Amino acid sequence: MVNNPTVQTPKRRAILAGTGSFVPEKILTNEDLTKIVDTSDEWITARTGIKTRHVVSEGETTATLSAEAARRALKDAGMRPEELNMIIIGTITPEMVFPSTACFVQDMIGAKNAWAFDLSAACSGFVYGLSIAQQFVSSGLYKNALVIGAETLTRITNYRDRGSCILFGDGAGAVILKSASEGPQGVMYSTSFSDGSGWTALNCPAYGSRNPVGKSLADPSMVYMSIDGRAVYQTAVRRIVELVNECLKKCDLDVEDIAMFIPHQMNARIIESVGKRLKFTNDRIFINIDKYGNTSAASIPIALDECRRLGKLKSGDIVLLVAFGGGLTWGANVIQL
Ligand code: UT7
Repeated sequence: MVNNPTVQTPKRRAILAGTGSFVPEKILTNEDLTKIVDTSDEWITARTGIKTRHVVSEGETTATLSAEAARRALKDAGMRPEELNMIIIGTITPEMVFPSTACFVQDMIGAKNAWAFDLSAACSGFVYGLSIAQQFVSSGLYKNALVIGAETLTRITNYRDRGSCILFGDGAGAVILKSASEGPQGVMYSTSFSDGSGWTALNCPAYGSRNPVGKSLADPSMVYMSIDGRAVYQTAVRRIVELVNECLKKCDLDVEDIAMFIPHQMNARIIESVGKRLKFTNDRIFINIDKYGNTSAASIPIALDECRRLGKLKSGDIVLLVAFGGGLTWGANVIQL
């Protein structure tokens, strides 16, 4: 599959000014799930690497999680909300059909000078968002952009389907890109792909214009996420390997030049298998799916923020973010911190 990006050498750079993340307090353990479906801690751990996930409570929504992650990113960047020019939220579990979750967040954090919109690309929502923000910030059109990945997936999880309900959790992660003329290279390269013919592998068919409210559903479980886990697994490994190779080639980097590979937290086995094929040493692959499960668009920015907070990254390091998910969609960003 051919795409059109090139490594940009713009006059200005889109540098990473701050990160933040937030997950709800309530935790759902593998043990808890054994009381809901026919499963076991051993099966979930061995097949996915997941131990716990964070789950929203009454009053917590995609916008409230996003706003808290955004406040933390602003604090990290030493920036006031009024300094933001744009807000993009990657999510498939928006606050409402409309207005966008991003408009709610703009109001909640007081970012009155930012325009705001949501982006629907499932697990690739954050990397797609970062590639869009990169264009505005590195061109110098905008000074500061806030990109969030946020989900309340447990609101559309089918807790009668043991093949999927063990996977998903809730959370939000945020990154601020700032326009700069010097310093680190910031977002060096972004690449994005879609293949709509693969939509059946991952979807939530109701309620949209194809299955509107009021129309009787062929199956009541159509209001929940449906996944063909095995098909996704195999395609994801192939696409992620391709993305990493493309990024290395376009940026003229070797695997050893990547300080941290931060993939979408889909399944620890997928990440480990990709890591082995690409010869990433374990200390340069970030995995936190054990604590949060699969949080779709939120997983990469949560992982990036946690990785920084754990002191695993330093200024000048190059990180590689790679996602694959529903659509099908896939994409990557290479960032020098
Ligand atoms: O981020 C994008 C969305 N994420 C995904 O699409 C996830 C990608 N896929 C995966 O992570 C894995 O495919 C799963 C974790 C979903 C499933 O793992 P798997 O190794 O592909 O298992 P499987 O679906 O091939 O099922 C193997 C067996 C089946 O039993 P039989 O037919 O062999 O007797 C399932 O019925 O495991 C059974 N099974 C379970 N057993 C205990 C399925 N779910 C469970 C469960 N507990 N929760």
